[in-house]
Amino acid sequence: MTISATATEYGPGNETGPAPRLTVIGTGYLGATHAICMAVLGYDVLGVDVDPDKIERLASGEVPFFEPGLPELLAKALDSGRLRFTTSFAEAGAFGDVHFICVGTPQQKGSYAADLTYVDAAVTELAGHIRGPALVVGKSTVPVGTAARLTELLHKTAPAGADAQLAWNPEFLREGYAVDDTLRPDRLVFGTTSAWAEERLRAAFAPVIAQGTPVVVTDLPTAELVKVAANSFLATKISYINAMAEVCEATGADVTGLATALSYDDRIGGRFLKPGLGFGGGCLPKDIRAFTHRAEELGVGQAVAFLREVDGINQRRRARTVDLVRELAGGALAGRRITALGAAFKPNSDDIRDAPALDVARTLHAAGALVTVVDPAAVPNARRAYPELTYATDALAAAAGSDVVVLLTEWAQFREIDPHVMGDVVAHRRIVDGRHALDSVQWRTAGWDYRALGRP
Ligand SMILES: NC(=O)c1ccc[n+]([C@@H]2O[C@H](COP(=O)([O-])OP(=O)(O)OC[C@H]3O[C@@H](n4cnc5c(N)ncnc54)[C@H](O)[C@@H]3O)[C@@H](O)[C@H]2O)c1
Repeated sequence: MTISATATEYGPGNETGPAPRLTVIGTGYLGATHAICMAVLGYDVLGVDVDPDKIERLASGEVPFFEPGLPELLAKALDSGRLRFTTSFAEAGAFGDVHFICVGTPQQKGSYAADLTYVDAAVTELAGHIRGPALVVGKSTVPVGTAARLTELLHKTAPAGADAQLAWNPEFLREGYAVDDTLRPDRLVFGTTSAWAEERLRAAFAPVIAQGTPVVVTDLPTAELVKVAANSFLATKISYINAMAEVCEATGADVTGLATALSYDDRIGGRFLKPGLGFGGGCLPKDIRAFTHRAEELGVGQAVAFLREVDGINQRRRARTVDLVRELAGGALAGRRITALGAAFKPNSDDIRDAPALDVARTLHAAGALVTVVDPAAVPNARRAYPELTYATDALAAAAGSDVVVLLTEWAQFREIDPHVMGDVVAHRRIVDGRHALDSVQWRTAGWDYRALGRP
């Protein structure tokens, strides 16, 4: 990957002062990627987290999660001397000109609302150490109105008072492509309340902007909304085609042909129009739920009421996948040996938050099936969360003696499985393709009973 410019070349260093020093508060999937990439772009960056183990691993050159390309960039950033890590907010406050808030905003237990305790804690802790002009930039996905509330909190808590400003810069990175999405985003969105804040953000992203990345400068609520609006749209597109799959199942039609035909329509397009087990992960499900919750609070719940149906369609795909496995297993799951290919919520990630694959595997297990879950990267996380399941990393070894194989996460190594080779080890050649990722003709020709959602 070539990076066309660095902070020193395009930062304000040459004209209006040195490039801003950056802190990144919260070094999970989003924050670690952001901190590493910004250091590679030439900024001096301090990564901050409350988890000392995570900080120690990052400081010693280990990325604590699976993300292609990131370990190499971490090594490069550490070697350059521009990236350091700490658990000290005092150090962060003293060091940074621009502070990025990248902590988690998970779904609250027992509610659709977002849990903002981590964001509030991070801003409060940091603010206590801001003694001069500084910009605090929210990147976490939050309900609209959060930034206005945090602005008050910041002004009240920071010794610098109103010299500590708040901006919002929603993040659109996709796990599995996080490095490229961070270095070459489709767009940058800056929610600001002053020309100074915009100038600081432009300085903090100078090399990215120099590549020609579009910048949308807007107000705080619009910036907050862009992220949830984007995720709602994507979730809706996925659930739309999965709703069509349900109709296909009732009519004998084939959703893959339907999706292909729709995708040739320029107005519709084929991206995110892939039928299957549906979406999961640490973003889409909780973001659409938090959005419906927030819209209801604001009295406009009806405007996004359709998102509840989007969520419902998505959940039904999981149940329907279990049904297909049961049907293939002869009507009962108890005692059946099932090989579940996939645990991560999507390929090229070890993230298991709200992973459809593990939801299906656990339901099969609860119904008495003997389930072995195979995943190239997510087994350690899955085992920690669900120790009751059996795990493996080699699909062929795991499939030995299997009654039904079910593909749940479309890792390349699963898509490339030779149906003849796997056919030799299983007890019965039966496969449910939960992701429409396999060549049905090839598998059927190899003697497999092949089933997929929305297909005859
Ligand atoms: N993961 C993605 O692909 C992605 C993409 C776009 C936006 N987002 C949004 O970014 C935010 C972070 O997501 P993530 O996936 O990186 O979450 P994560 O759980 O991987 O990381 C959050 C990190 O914040 C740390 N943390 C918690 N409280 C803290 C505090 N008070 N001070 C400092 N650190 C603290 C945690 O220890 C953890 O390391 C969420 O709002 C998410 O919706 C995530």
